[in-house]
Amino acid sequence: MTADAPLIEVDSVSRSFDVSRSAADILRGRRPQIHAVTDVDFTLRRGETLGIVGESGCGKTTLGRMLIKLIPPTSGTVRFQGADIGEMDRQAELAFRRRAQLVFQNPFDALNPHFTILRSLQEPLRNARVPAAEHEERIAEALRMVHLAAPEHFLMSFPHQLSGGQLQRVVLARALVLRPDFIVADEPVSMLDVSVRAGILNVLREVRDRLGLAAVYISHDLSLVRYVCARTITMYLGTVVEDGPTRDLIESPLHPYTRALVQAVPVPDVNQSHDPLPIKGGLPDARNPPSGCRFRDRCPLAEARCAAEVPRLREVSPGRRVACHVVA
Ligand SMILES: Nc1ncnc2c1ncn2[C@@H]1O[C@H](COP(=O)(O)OP(=O)(O)OP(=O)(O)O)[C@@H](O)[C@H]1O
Ligand SMILES: [Mg+2]
Repeated sequence: MTADAPLIEVDSVSRSFDVSRSAADILRGRRPQIHAVTDVDFTLRRGETLGIVGESGCGKTTLGRMLIKLIPPTSGTVRFQGADIGEMDRQAELAFRRRAQLVFQNPFDALNPHFTILRSLQEPLRNARVPAAEHEERIAEALRMVHLAAPEHFLMSFPHQLSGGQLQRVVLARALVLRPDFIVADEPVSMLDVSVRAGILNVLREVRDRLGLAAVYISHDLSLVRYVCARTITMYLGTVVEDGPTRDLIESPLHPYTRALVQAVPVPDVNQSHDPLPIKGGLPDARNPPSGCRFRDRCPLAEARCAAEVPRLREVSPGRRVACHVVA
């Protein structure tokens, strides 16, 4: 495999979930499903940082969970270094679990409240059978990476004794102790006070610049990706509607939905609170998405063919893809 080959290849990945059936569903033999992610494809190279943005419920977390094999796709494949992660033998799977790490949104999901911070940092090393003699060095290295000074003051503490910012740094360090090749961070700053967000964003940037790993940052707004990600994907109701260099996507968004997202973050200040989305209505019901373009009933530019035909994601310039009948 060449150095330039993609590390991650996502090929027509979809995921649906069964939802509870009403009496009418049972009587009519219907099995309603939520189409959380539909036909997503993209590739990611080593050293690339990809942002995934979109409104709440558009499928970001579901996609992120499929990328690291927490849940399988309903159809389609995710390949890591050319190998389908759904078809790995036990040994390959263990190796993959070391090399691909998730950073949780809520530190309390990631850290056992009954474990000291030291134990939480040691546990992934133990599970991966890293020799005990290396633990101290690995942990010190990860803590340096996230700028947690004076670890002697908190390594024997429990999660509730740390501040939100410290905890999020510990969660990130925990993902880094195994020296992964790939991380998925799901809303890594959304639970934090504005006063500590900027510090964490700086850490994420350093991780990007120094470690050269492939990273996916999931966020419901554009301010994080603007700061950290070279490339960004916009998702709408389970589908990718735009994909391109973050700068282009923010400075000259093509898809009307990306435009609306950008308008909702008018100032390049990551601590700024946001206006509501300048488009009408909310996300349609994912059990029954609109025909044709899923965005059409909220779109200011919609035309007749938008109801009739699904717009395909098309390359409009090198590295830029958009799924829209009207603008592309
Ligand atoms: N385990 C599940 N069972 C049923 N439906 C689910 C499940 N997980 C997600 N969904 C549904 O799939 C859709 C996408 O959810 P997902 O959590 O991926 O969105 P998201 O973009 O991460 O949203 P948020 O920004 O709020 O985190 C939603 O309609 C959600 O209700
Ligand atoms: Mg989510």
